[in-house]
Amino acid sequence: MAIRNIVKEEDELLRKISKPVFDFDERLGILLDDMHDTLKKAEGAGLAAVQVGILKRLFIMDVGHGIRECINPKLLRAEGINKIKVEGCLSVPGKCGLVERPEKVWVEYQDRTGAKVNKKFSGFEAKCFCHEYDHLDGILYVDKATKMFKDRDEYYRNTKNNKSNEGEN
Ligand code: CO
Repeated sequence: MAIRNIVKEEDELLRKISKPVFDFDERLGILLDDMHDTLKKAEGAGLAAVQVGILKRLFIMDVGHGIRECINPKLLRAEGINKIKVEGCLSVPGKCGLVERPEKVWVEYQDRTGAKVNKKFSGFEAKCFCHEYDHLDGILYVDKATKMFKDRDEYYRNTKNNKSNEGEN
């Protein structure tokens, strides 16, 4: 287990398309374990492999009930408009912005053994999934943000939202 370095916004790597995972081997397990440590240390809600410099289609997310590993994820269907607008990213430290995401998503992915998983996510988990999913295609939330804030204080001053349901993805 090890903490990996998180790639920052200016790095062109974050703009690349990640490649499908074919080998569900020990190396994949090590990457995922390291990503767990890295996400916990950074106190984030989500982390994509590209954010630690690995162009593989996988991410992990933790919305408060343990870490979920999503490998070769697919977004099958999306519905509604998420009530949570504010979003952050560990690759864009400090800043946050408002992004519209679906309220519900129906998704498919594989776990670390390669087994297929089908899930329906809503609320913060749906938002988080969409944010991480975008990372795999070189998209950052700043591309989609309707408004950006230089830090959380500026966001709080500009909105009446409470502090719940936030996270750095
Ligand atoms: Co992110």
